[in-house]
Amino acid sequence: MIELGLRNDVYRRPLATALDRLGLREGWRCVDVGAGGGDVTVALAELVGRDGRVYAVDSDPAARDAVADAAATAAVAQVLAITQAGEDLLLPEPVDLAFCRFLLMHVVDPVVVIGRMGRAVRPGGWVVCQEPVTSAGRVGGAPMSMPDARHPDVGALLPALARKAGLEVVDAWAEAPAGAGPGPVARYLESLTGVDPGDDPVVLPPLVTVVSRRPVG
Ligand SMILES: C[S@@+](CC[C@H](N)C(=O)[O-])C[C@H]1O[C@@H](n2cnc3c(N)ncnc32)[C@H](O)[C@@H]1O
Repeated sequence: MIELGLRNDVYRRPLATALDRLGLREGWRCVDVGAGGGDVTVALAELVGRDGRVYAVDSDPAARDAVADAAATAAVAQVLAITQAGEDLLLPEPVDLAFCRFLLMHVVDPVVVIGRMGRAVRPGGWVVCQEPVTSAGRVGGAPMSMPDARHPDVGALLPALARKAGLEVVDAWAEAPAGAGPGPVARYLESLTGVDPGDDPVVLPPLVTVVSRRPVG
């Protein structure tokens, strides 16, 4: 079990880069698909303010309580948690931004979920996906693996998958947290693998971010 907030700590920079790149503003309506414990949901809610709205969607009903707790702790009120599969994504209104992080690596067909995200946003709205290339991570110079995930390297395919889902890719890049010795990077790796890397240098799996838009018309 990953320590609450630890994923958010080590992958904070890619999230901040993406939200900055988008110019996410007060009043936006957003959906966080595969919201999990709500780290991304809360970051979005803090930026969209009281006039905005964030739908937190997850197929696991337990995520509703986790997101509600995270929103209450962060004192962000405009979060609506919904139990729904990304493959069935259907919201009460079109949103400005559909976001997912560490989701597509677990779903059966990432293109289906990206396509649903594209249909959830208004024409010209944003679809942003952040997914890892697990095998590009390194511990002591050796490649990492994540055999339990369906698509551990889906990040490497992400720009093509977004295009296949009918979206216009506006930007794409990769960022990876790295470190050596005690600290959040080592603790995160230990929470994933059960093994403390000690003083071995660690490069966590890079997150590929794809910023895309639903075509207008
Ligand atoms: C690794 S967690 C990521 C949580 C969060 N996005 C983050 O970055 O901290 C993956 C989440 O996706 C959810 N999930 C997996 N398959 C899903 C699907 N098909 N539709 C919606 N949520 C799904 C899981 O229940 C889990 O909460």
